[in-house]
Amino acid sequence: MKRLAIFASGSGSNFEAIAEGCRSGAIVGAEVVLCVCDKAGAYVIERAKKFGVETLVFNPKEFGSKREFEGMIADRMDALGVDLVCLAGYMRIIGDELLERYGGKIINIHPALLPAFPGAHGIRDAFEYGVKVYGVTIHYVDATLDGGKIISQVAVPYEGDDIEELEAMIHKAEHKLYVETINKL
Ligand code: GAR
Repeated sequence: MKRLAIFASGSGSNFEAIAEGCRSGAIVGAEVVLCVCDKAGAYVIERAKKFGVETLVFNPKEFGSKREFEGMIADRMDALGVDLVCLAGYMRIIGDELLERYGGKIINIHPALLPAFPGAHGIRDAFEYGVKVYGVTIHYVDATLDGGKIISQVAVPYEGDDIEELEAMIHKAEHKLYVETINKL
């Protein structure tokens, strides 16, 4: 079994899609062994508990540096034998410590067709720009914001004016693409 760690800061709908994918067999031969969260109270923590997944919740402000808290995370991942790190709404740039120790094994999902609309508000930025084809990108992670070699993408055409409807369509596309991509990897 390949062992996955999922990093998230918020709701965790992608966490749930991946955990459910492992449970249902849509992702073959993998299990989620760790949920890393940098925000106490984030809903992803509840979801992880529901799936019986260990949670590592930390407050970055309690550490002297990013290298320090990333070292703590990497130590736990070493102990669990993590094979792949999936970022799922983890709203921090990955630093040197994790890139040195887990480089090439960290992937991220972004709710836009990168390199367009990187950052924390990909859907809103694309909507305000007025694009007609939205989408989702999964890519290897490097030291830049939403940068790194692209693994998979899917387009989500939308010409309406309801951002909530659009968000729902993009999240649905994310859940499907993340499960399919992890299964292929
Ligand atoms: C997802 O839409 C993900 O693509 C996005 O955060 C959301 C997390 O939702 N990530 C980024 O914007 C990264 N720049 P979730 O907590 O429900 O999975």
